Amino acid sequence: MVKVTVVAPANIAFIKYWGRSEHNLYIARNTSISMTMSGCITTTTVEVGDFENDQIEVKFFNQEYKKLQALDHKPKALFKQIERIRSLAKSTQKTKIKTENNFPNDVGIASSASGFAALTGALLLGYGLEKEFADKEEFSRQIRLCGSGSAIRSAMGGFVEFLAPKEAIQAAGGFSPEDLASELKEHLHKESYARQITDENHWNLVDIVAITNPKKKLVSSSQGHLMADTSPYYETRISEMQDRIAQTRQAILDKDIRQLGPLIEEDSNSMHSVMMTSKPPIFYWSPGSMEIMLNVMKWRREDDLQAYFTLDAGSNVHVITEKKDSEEVKKRLENLPSVQWTIYNQPCPGVTKINKHLF
Ligand code: PMV
Repeated sequence: MVKVTVVAPANIAFIKYWGRSEHNLYIARNTSISMTMSGCITTTTVEVGDFENDQIEVKFFNQEYKKLQALDHKPKALFKQIERIRSLAKSTQKTKIKTENNFPNDVGIASSASGFAALTGALLLGYGLEKEFADKEEFSRQIRLCGSGSAIRSAMGGFVEFLAPKEAIQAAGGFSPEDLASELKEHLHKESYARQITDENHWNLVDIVAITNPKKKLVSSSQGHLMADTSPYYETRISEMQDRIAQTRQAILDKDIRQLGPLIEEDSNSMHSVMMTSKPPIFYWSPGSMEIMLNVMKWRREDDLQAYFTLDAGSNVHVITEKKDSEEVKKRLENLPSVQWTIYNQPCPGVTKINKHLF
């Protein structure tokens, strides 16, 4: 019996991944860039042994442990990932898994990112695939095959990009998954991975998540990716964002909040425009999200408080600022009527093995 435990952070995208050029391999249509989040963590323990079946128990935020069923829609991806890694390791042994989140799930705080990254890391180590775990780019490819592209940006610490292969971009729209030659598939798989821009010690940037509505969102990001290209503005987004990707990378390296902030907001607004104009439309913003966005802009305009908003597929607002301004931003956010509570995050290491097991 081998028992392994890892912790994995969620991450917040400054440049968003929205839409794929190949759905079966989860190949992103555009490169995305994110920061890991120290306050939103999944812990996962995997035991590999002579069990009859794979068993997964999950403890969501403020809930008790619950057994997942292999045939249910969402857990299917987790059980599939166990099968895949078991066969990669040429093993027949089954697993016993416990996993816990310290933050709300399915509300736009990337709980699938930390969850899938933690599960994949613990499985690779549990099945003795240390090399695949240690090579962080290969590790990120393994995470991607779980089904969450954003999760691959949690493989490593700090500021990370998820690369979209050029050929995939060119070919997008022109092929169906069945038509893809196996060579092209292999190429796409190799070229679609996470790369660290700079580590967690580079810049004291802070993400304060303002929780407006911890209820489950109505449309999952997996469903949203499938619909992205039904928006008439999707192709426009893909072309207008290319300069922004390069500028974002540079602003991070230069530690320049005045440069980075507007890029973050533009990209969030650009992605949400695509979402709202998809067929059928998807609205993740709530009245509370609007209140926060408008106030963040007002604080900048009136007080030069350097804070910028970004939203993923949910109504909660991530407010990005520097550590020196974070107390002030947190205080102001918590005074807004629509903010229930906040979660403070700094850049942190990616998936990490720890010695304290969950069982
Ligand atoms: O990784 P997925 O399939 O859960 O998609 C995530 C999409 C966004 O969170 C909206 C954007 C991003 O890049 O994280």
